[in-house]
Amino acid sequence: MYLGLDLGTSGLRGLLTEGDGRVVGSAEASYPNPHPASGWSEQDPADWIRACQAVMAALSEAYPREVGALRGIGLSGHMHGATLLGSDDAVLRPCILWNDTRSANQASWLDARPGIRESSGNIVFPGFTAPKLLWVEEHEPDVFSKTAKVLLPKDYLRLWLTGDHISDMSDSAGTTWLDVGARDWSAQALETSHMRREQMPDLVEGSAPGGQLRAALCTEWGITGPVIVAGGGGDNAAAACGAGCFAEGTGFVSLGTSGVLLAARDSFAPAPETAVHSFCHAVPGRWYQMGVILAATDCLNWLSRSVGQSPEALAGALPGRISGPGALTFLPYLSGERTPHNDANMRGAFVGLDIGMGTDALTRAVMEGVAFALRDSLEALRRTGANLETVLAVGGGTRSRFWLETLASTLGLSLALPAGGEFGAALGAARLAICAESGADPDQVMTAPEISETIAPRADLTALYDEAYQSYRTLYPALRQAHK
Ligand code: XUL
Repeated sequence: MYLGLDLGTSGLRGLLTEGDGRVVGSAEASYPNPHPASGWSEQDPADWIRACQAVMAALSEAYPREVGALRGIGLSGHMHGATLLGSDDAVLRPCILWNDTRSANQASWLDARPGIRESSGNIVFPGFTAPKLLWVEEHEPDVFSKTAKVLLPKDYLRLWLTGDHISDMSDSAGTTWLDVGARDWSAQALETSHMRREQMPDLVEGSAPGGQLRAALCTEWGITGPVIVAGGGGDNAAAACGAGCFAEGTGFVSLGTSGVLLAARDSFAPAPETAVHSFCHAVPGRWYQMGVILAATDCLNWLSRSVGQSPEALAGALPGRISGPGALTFLPYLSGERTPHNDANMRGAFVGLDIGMGTDALTRAVMEGVAFALRDSLEALRRTGANLETVLAVGGGTRSRFWLETLASTLGLSLALPAGGEFGAALGAARLAICAESGADPDQVMTAPEISETIAPRADLTALYDEAYQSYRTLYPALRQAHK
């Protein structure tokens, strides 16, 4: 038996699988994600531990025999978060998350330092880990001076599970401190960002062992043991493991809290100037590239809160089929912007509001705006040589047929829909556990899901979506001018 634990932005999901990856059952527990100031996004690491205990209690109750026979655990988690620990491993402040943009100034400073983009293969985005530590150094010097270790969110969970300070390559690639080509901490990047190597966890590959479950937890959860904890992966790499995205040309588009367009790459081909992210994959010798938008379903959630209707009700009020772009345009920069503009201070907008428009027009514009922003990512990925033809469509937003059709026609790509079942980061994490514990070949384990349906771009409408995308592109520079 194997367990994938995916530490998401809104909650933790545990997925129990057999040795061949077949799913036995799952459990979830949620936690808050406070935004204490504009551009801030934090979480209390103690909430992750509470959620993990709740998930394990639910799984042990529902599947006592299976949990008892657990051999491996794989971890996945939201990337870039800075969990700062003192020398006694106590948490020094709330974790600063991936969608927190308070360190924009520190990020541009670090980004301009010689050698930084070369070793990390990426722009230093404000959401990445290194600039967060520079912000803490400037604004919370006491906390900075007490920081003995910096752990990514899933690795803090690992610390609690195993007692070890360990990270994997795919998640560490999002810190700016990793030499992403060499798959090791970069002495120069650490020094430039005022950090020391001993503040970093040890590194393993995602599909290799990265600790062992503490005996006390084995006893508490009724597990015979021993249980290997795999290196695991950042959520996007783990999702790629769950969806079988390894070979050049394969990829996925994710409509989750953030929006991601990911392309697997056979080699490390960084192109920081495009604002595309180039990261290590969770298996040795592989990399991937992706464009990221900071709010995808989060935009619909925001609209839902604003108009007092559930996201499902908003989406459900739209027709099943698209008929061409609407007259209203939405810029989905509610939490700032990553690919392609790297503009943490930008905020969203509706352009073209008409007195006759109602909630449906807003919902439709939100979905189209997210699709246009992902088209920006596709154009950026293409400039790096990534060549996508069909991509898997994953994430909560894919429940809307209207959104899927809009996205396919805006991207000009066919979207393959997995046939039910599991294919996400939790499955990817469980698969990494299978590899780490049994030594199985990742290529044999990380297979692609069965496809239920492929949504092709609407040939009669793509020209219209293309035209609408071209006019969407003119809005960012105009808004940048106006938004000081
Ligand atoms: C990737 C990113 C997000 C988070 C949260 O760079 O910031 O996708 O991993 O899911």
